[in-house]
Amino acid sequence: MLIAGNWKMFRGPDPAALAGLDAVICPPFTRLHDCVDAGLTTFAQNVHWEPEGAYTGEVSAPLLLEVGVVGVLVGHSERRQYFCETDETVARRTRAALDAGLRVIACVGETHEQRERDETEDVLRRQLAVLEPHPDLVLAYEPVWAIGTGLTATPELAQEAHAFIKSLLDAPVLYGGSVKPDNAAALLAQPDVDGALVGGASLDVDSFQAICETAARIPS
Ligand code: 13P
Repeated sequence: MLIAGNWKMFRGPDPAALAGLDAVICPPFTRLHDCVDAGLTTFAQNVHWEPEGAYTGEVSAPLLLEVGVVGVLVGHSERRQYFCETDETVARRTRAALDAGLRVIACVGETHEQRERDETEDVLRRQLAVLEPHPDLVLAYEPVWAIGTGLTATPELAQEAHAFIKSLLDAPVLYGGSVKPDNAAALLAQPDVDGALVGGASLDVDSFQAICETAARIPS
């Protein structure tokens, strides 16, 4: 069971308050060092596929490794939606990070319109087609309509999507989208839900801790 907190472009809590928690933290770049210093398992929120070069505003795997980062988040729907991330760039970032020895959480998931049009399986199939199984690759199913909206996939719907994803690619699958202390137990109890990628609730130490404690009580 893996719980990851994605702080997105928020400053986030004091990393020292999270010390000892069994979780992955994905802070903004400027806080990576503080999180590593506090002994947290720290992932960056993006990585470029080249080890170095003239790519203003990007960061590479070797640069992240140098500050003690151990993994990266790739292909988050906010990057797909607002920053021209494509399945191809997701694949390139994932491959480069894994080759460099970083762990990867790669995100997939359909929009509200795609679900309404009954395209969820097609979208997942397309997003996963560019990825290959790897011991350090974890997937996150984040239905876009459930992110930051307070709308959570029902445990049954999450289970159905996770089982479908695993039929295409053999990897653990985290659920993401409005995970809170009060819905975490039901979601994490599903047989193919292997953890959670938590946004808003990871910014609050008590909420995040409560979700981690819930996860720890679920037999693996
Ligand atoms: P929320 O938990 O705020 O819905 O965000 C989910 C998410 O995007 C995690 O990456």
